[in-house]
Amino acid sequence: MTPEKLLDAVEGFSTPLFVYDLDAILDRLSLLKKLFDGRFGVSYAIKANPNMGLLRALQPQLEMFDASSILEVRRAIATGMKPEFISFSGPAKRKVEIHEAVDLHVGELILESLSEAEEASAYAQSKGLLQPCLVRINPLHVPRKFGASMARTASQFGIDEEQMGDALPQIAELAGLNLVGFHIYSGTNCLDPEAIAENFENFARIFEQAQAQTGIEVHRLVFGSGFGIQYLPDETQLDHEALPALVNPIVDALLQKPGFEKATCNLELGRWLVGPFGWLLTRTISEKSSRGSEIRTCDAGFNNHLAACGMMGSVFRRNWVFQNISNPQGKTSAYMLVGPLCTSIDRLAVDVELAEVTVGDVIAIEGSGAYGLTASPSRFISHPEPREVTYHDGRFTDASETERHPLTTLPA
Ligand SMILES: Cc1ncc(COP(=O)(O)O)c(C=O)c1O
Repeated sequence: MTPEKLLDAVEGFSTPLFVYDLDAILDRLSLLKKLFDGRFGVSYAIKANPNMGLLRALQPQLEMFDASSILEVRRAIATGMKPEFISFSGPAKRKVEIHEAVDLHVGELILESLSEAEEASAYAQSKGLLQPCLVRINPLHVPRKFGASMARTASQFGIDEEQMGDALPQIAELAGLNLVGFHIYSGTNCLDPEAIAENFENFARIFEQAQAQTGIEVHRLVFGSGFGIQYLPDETQLDHEALPALVNPIVDALLQKPGFEKATCNLELGRWLVGPFGWLLTRTISEKSSRGSEIRTCDAGFNNHLAACGMMGSVFRRNWVFQNISNPQGKTSAYMLVGPLCTSIDRLAVDVELAEVTVGDVIAIEGSGAYGLTASPSRFISHPEPREVTYHDGRFTDASETERHPLTTLPA
């Protein structure tokens, strides 16, 4: 979105403000659906951005929503998605959440442990139901070049690959469950097509083994995609055009194996779809020099965007891509951008090169469509929660979900 358009949004809705470009996100979704020539359906991981305006726009184009709490399941249903097209994953599903999901007839319960499987089975049986489910497997190996990797070490996610032989036949036998397939999500934010293909090859090997251990006719395989996006100025985008040549042969070979003839595959992902088409817009509140640094305080900090401040799993804090959209032609200098919180760790950017920033300027943080507001401690120090707007067909629409009252808002 152009800086002028982003400034239009600020004009209408003030700062801090998250803007989501639905037109660009929907284009990206249709590109993804065409990319693999129908080999994959798309399952959107609601955790990446659960904004209802966004979910409602995505829903008609998606094969599935993946929810990771029962409240996300309810969000998915509120968009009009039929429960049969909702999967429910997550490592600590409470009994009440499992029961509600079974009562709602969610299409795929993603089992993360044997004990969870036993609970779901017992409840479904008590209701005379047969709950469709997938078992999530936690691989031993994840290629390098993935961001957060959930495999290899002790993990709360799924059943360890080494324990499959023992656990899967037991789950397949549970009377209240219909085991229809398998799920793997083992790493995220990868920008290397070859590493993604290597990961999928490993998934295919594990899926084959899981099928052999259970003897089931597989109906669904979920490939937790791990497709990454550019966050840092020196990163490049994932070359998604390179993926089909690497990935299609792996999928085609797998689907020819006995037990897989009826299998359909879904890519489960969030950030690649929505991340690049969201911005956090923050206004500069004050300016000062301190011990050699030009400091600009802003009305958003890690309370609004933990990830951009390098606090969501990054080993080293590095600057994301920032722009001074109020004064793009100004003389460039280095700035320290800090948020409004009373802690020295509230830093948006350090030594970031920006066109001259003065009080009142609006700074845009790129790549903020995923894991922005939803993954931030927005109540810390009681600053007003950012508003969220969607952009669709040339119009901005308020998509904020926080109730506005004197304890959550400031005068304009
Ligand atoms: C099970 C599962 N599926 C999907 C996702 C979405 O990942 P991403 O937004 O990186 O595509 C995650 C992220 O942690 C996840 O844990």
